[in-house]
Amino acid sequence: MKHFIRLLTAFLIFMLTGFLAISQDDGEWVVPEKYKTMENPTENSKMNLRIGKVLYAKHCKSCHGSNGLGDGPKAASLDTFSGDFSSEVFQSQTDGELYYKTTFGKDEMPAFDKTIPSDEDRWLIVHYMRTFSE
Ligand code: HEC
Repeated sequence: MKHFIRLLTAFLIFMLTGFLAISQDDGEWVVPEKYKTMENPTENSKMNLRIGKVLYAKHCKSCHGSNGLGDGPKAASLDTFSGDFSSEVFQSQTDGELYYKTTFGKDEMPAFDKTIPSDEDRWLIVHYMRTFSE
């Protein structure tokens, strides 16, 4: 019996730590300093915004919605809210932060380093995401 209780306690502690680890993961999305300070190497021109828009429509809109409000057709099947791109909190991030998040993803946000292999294309989408600010 003693043995069983010890085993049960160990199991409960194991479950609890696992649970805490999962719930903590919902928190901060830490962007390495190296990326935070990166400057967008592409020009914020009309032509580039048009390319950014096409790429966004193809790869991002299904979850993030046409206006970046997180209300795309796939949004309902996600457990995580994908963010409000028109918000000040979102827009106050640096281009490098948005580039990092777009490139590497996190949990339900897919990584795009392979799906959109051109760095330049991902930087163009960053310019385009700026157009959602009010
Ligand atoms: C399958 C759905 C899905 C697709 C497709 C998707 N995203 Fe996301 N995205 C998410 C989710 C969910 C989050 C929130 C992740 C989290 O906080 O854990 C997110 C978060 C983000 C964030 C961070 C938001 C913030 O508040 O800081 C950025 C930037 C982003 N996505 C950009 C993009 C771009 C650019 C594309 C297309 C190239 C894209 N996403 C495609 C689901 C998606």
